[in-house]
Amino acid sequence: PSINVVRLDGSVDSVAVDPEGTLMEAIRDAGCDELLALCGGCLSCATCHVHIDPAFADRLPPMSEDEDGLLDMVDNRSPHSRLSCQLRLDDSCEGMRVTLVEVG
Ligand code: FES
Repeated sequence: PSINVVRLDGSVDSVAVDPEGTLMEAIRDAGCDELLALCGGCLSCATCHVHIDPAFADRLPPMSEDEDGLLDMVDNRSPHSRLSCQLRLDDSCEGMRVTLVEVG
């Protein structure tokens, strides 16, 4: 699917997401390197934190306890927070808006 990524400066990029890969990888591959993803996707850094368009929340895989625990340690957690390295998207997510979050 193709999604819209809102970057830290407010600009919006259209990003193609490979359903075989993660949302984090797609955002990084599109050149949005302000998504730090320091741990490379092994669920230990929380620097791949994003806010997901609430309208799409129920189309995403459920949050694991480990993801929930790690999100508890970030600033700017919202009800729409997810760790993008834990998300694979299918075509039901076409047009979804994903907002990058300042790492705090
Ligand atoms: Fe480190 Fe997602 S990249 S938790």
